[in-house]
Amino acid sequence: MTATGDTVTGDADIRDAATGVPAAIELVGVAKDYQSRGRAVPAVSRVDLEIRSGEFFSLLGPSGCGKSTTLRMIAGFEEPTRGRILLQGRDVTAVPPNRRDVNLVFQSYALFPHLDVAGNVAFGLRRRGVKGRELRERVGSMLDLVELSELADRRPRELSGGQQQRVALARALVNRPAALLLDEPLGALDLKLRQTMQIQLKAIQREVGITFVYVTHDQGEALTMSDRIAVMNGGRVEQLASPRDIYERPRTRFVAGFIGTSNLLRRTVRAVDAAGPDGRPTVVLDAGVEERLSAPLHPQTGPLRAGDQVELTVRPEKIEMSATRPDGPGCALRGRIVEVVYLGTYTTYTVATHGGNEITVFWQNSTGASNIAERGDEIWLSWLPEHSYVLPESVDLPEADDQPEAIALPAAVALPEAVALPASVDPAEAVDPAAGTSTDPVAYRVSH
Ligand SMILES: Nc1ncnc2c1ncn2[C@@H]1O[C@H](COP(=O)(O)OP(=O)(O)OP(=O)(O)O)[C@@H](O)[C@H]1O
Ligand SMILES: [Mg+2]
Repeated sequence: MTATGDTVTGDADIRDAATGVPAAIELVGVAKDYQSRGRAVPAVSRVDLEIRSGEFFSLLGPSGCGKSTTLRMIAGFEEPTRGRILLQGRDVTAVPPNRRDVNLVFQSYALFPHLDVAGNVAFGLRRRGVKGRELRERVGSMLDLVELSELADRRPRELSGGQQQRVALARALVNRPAALLLDEPLGALDLKLRQTMQIQLKAIQREVGITFVYVTHDQGEALTMSDRIAVMNGGRVEQLASPRDIYERPRTRFVAGFIGTSNLLRRTVRAVDAAGPDGRPTVVLDAGVEERLSAPLHPQTGPLRAGDQVELTVRPEKIEMSATRPDGPGCALRGRIVEVVYLGTYTTYTVATHGGNEITVFWQNSTGASNIAERGDEIWLSWLPEHSYVLPESVDLPEADDQPEAIALPAAVALPEAVALPASVDPAEAVDPAAGTSTDPVAYRVSH
């Protein structure tokens, strides 16, 4: 698939219209097979994406979907099996990590225990010969940015997890890379701290204006911070869009299920109205007596005919419940409440519809609105058709081998020595090009 078409990336062109500035990071048909016991293990099947300069971009997906592999290919620690990587328009596919203007921050951000906070942040700059006033100013302004100036002379063991994380961030940012790559950097923190750090990270990113590429399997995290999100599944990008579009208009069944809670109703198409209420094609689905079910056709869904099986998706918070049949042209289904779970700010109702679906409803517990119904009650569910979508079961993703430019590596053939992929680079072994040594355990330089 291409994640660069209009429907996938959303609105604007990647290039700045006025200046023609190329994308900060571009992946063109990038794939990665690991070699394990003489066999090719596909980790990334085919990824095409463009990350804009100054953007907070997230790679989101379940464990094993290829997020870290993609990030490590951008950093240069893994070599793509196929495809090309461009940084600011320059092809860096064959460029080693230390010549790429990017910094990688890992989940395990081991700081130098024997250096204080300021020393940790200053480390990389010192090795590159920055000293005196410039060193003090750069370290000072970075500590201000991450709000650690007060703790400048503390040792890492005297800091909380979130404070340590901010030192790691400052240590990477002080190098002024064109892009910062972050692989689940908040994974070790507890939920509350993680949420605080998410807001801070986003604020810091906005302030420094550096492109952030953020890897996470936490959808809330991605929705909170990102300008755009690439949702990955099985080594591919299933949708690339803004958080709102990902949530409101999931493009595939997988995205609808992975992001938040979504109701998926498998139904038969009764009719297709080519020009629905707002001019968009609308699908009318089979429903019971007095019930109504219709939804806009997702742009990615191919043409449909009466009798086709489809899935309709609707978010739990979009659904109204009422004792009597609602008026109006919206969707309306009958059901019986089978489960009620009180969750403080809202209550979750599980409703078994007469048509055989189970539908989850989130009901906000605002004043006077709670306890509207009980387990066993017969109720009506209703929502606006535009709050739901008819989805294709899966996106039509071309196989990597279909791509003419792809140089397929025969499966089960070990790579010859000469093109052997670099073994994953342990941060502890990372080489600082400026110093030619390998002592910085985390925020090592891979640029300048
Ligand atoms: N060095 C390796 N050799 C062989 N297979 C690997 C190697 N590294 C990763 N893989 C496999 O490649 C796939 C993608 O791994 P990757 O680390 O990119 O996933 P991820 O999305 O970052 O997952 P997680 O959220 O668990 O970190 C997985 O199936 C993994 O088992
Ligand atoms: Mg990972």
